[in-house]
Amino acid sequence: MSDNQSAIRISQSAIEASAIERLAVEIAGIKLKNPVMGASGTFGYGLEFAGLIDLNRLGGFSTKGLSARPLPGNIPTRIVETHGGMLNAIGLQNVGARAFVEEKLPLLRKYDTQVIANVFGYSDEDYLEAIQILNDGEGIAAYELNISCPNVKEGGIVIGSSPLAAAKLTEKARRAAQRPLIVKLSPNVTDIKELARAIVDAGADALSLINTLVGMAIDIHSRKPHLNFGTGGLSGPAIKPIAVRMVYEVASTVSVPLIGIGGIASAADALEFIIAGATAVQIGTANYYDPSVTMKTIDELADYCNQHSTTMQSLIGSVNRN
Ligand SMILES: Cc1cc2nc3c(=O)[nH]c(=O)nc-3n(C[C@H](O)[C@H](O)[C@H](O)COP(=O)(O)O)c2cc1C
Repeated sequence: MSDNQSAIRISQSAIEASAIERLAVEIAGIKLKNPVMGASGTFGYGLEFAGLIDLNRLGGFSTKGLSARPLPGNIPTRIVETHGGMLNAIGLQNVGARAFVEEKLPLLRKYDTQVIANVFGYSDEDYLEAIQILNDGEGIAAYELNISCPNVKEGGIVIGSSPLAAAKLTEKARRAAQRPLIVKLSPNVTDIKELARAIVDAGADALSLINTLVGMAIDIHSRKPHLNFGTGGLSGPAIKPIAVRMVYEVASTVSVPLIGIGGIASAADALEFIIAGATAVQIGTANYYDPSVTMKTIDELADYCNQHSTTMQSLIGSVNRN
């Protein structure tokens, strides 16, 4: 190789290195190569996407909610499309924490991406049991406590809408968890700031927000709800402005890192959340109509950083006041 060629090589790798540095962020000690993750429940156990996208390029993803024991979920119809979004009442169908550790994690370990185990229970004891099982798993970066699922008859929503109950569970989970603890907030509350403060004071290392908003759609011919469960969780572009507002409010209330979620389908959407105060983002519903949305978002974020000569890190919470 000539001196010229090797000089070009070196300068090319310097450009690549700086591109990588521009996108990198960190959440509670977890290093993400970029801020883009798949959202819980919309990304399966990651493996379902392995043939569709390059999982190695992803900042990370959050698994389907894992409970101590497998759950069958609700009876169909469990999903219905609405204006700018969708309603779901899956009811936390999952393989259970043990099967995840034994069957899914060994396959996931060959991918260079951060795996966040989303945890769900019907009582504090259920949550702790699931965490204890997951503690045995190798290759989990953090836990994300779902205290906010609206689609089950008991459990999550009761804990998630009471700052006191949420703080109590967070305290116990923090003690049981051998990994960083992210708590996922419900938007179905009067004051998201109060909830966030209580959970952070109880020991959460990071927060993710938001989960779905309780909604309903009715078939005007049968006059029955479209969903067998009756109500469901609204997600997709329709909820984005609410989610951005909540991230902005929580960012001004607590100092732990935030993961923004809600209607993100492009880098422009992701940037709104990051500028509002999120360190990273999760993409949910958009994966259903465009499985490559996470990859496109990463590429577009890199373009944005190049065009604006900036880094993700310096954009976090950089919103200008009017
Ligand atoms: C079909 C479906 C299943 C979901 N399951 C879970 C879950 O198991 N645990 C959880 O914390 N959030 C779950 N969510 C909520 C998403 O992770 C996300 O918070 C929400 O959909 C908002 O993001 P989006 O508008 O990008 O979809 C689910 C959402 C959908 C649409």
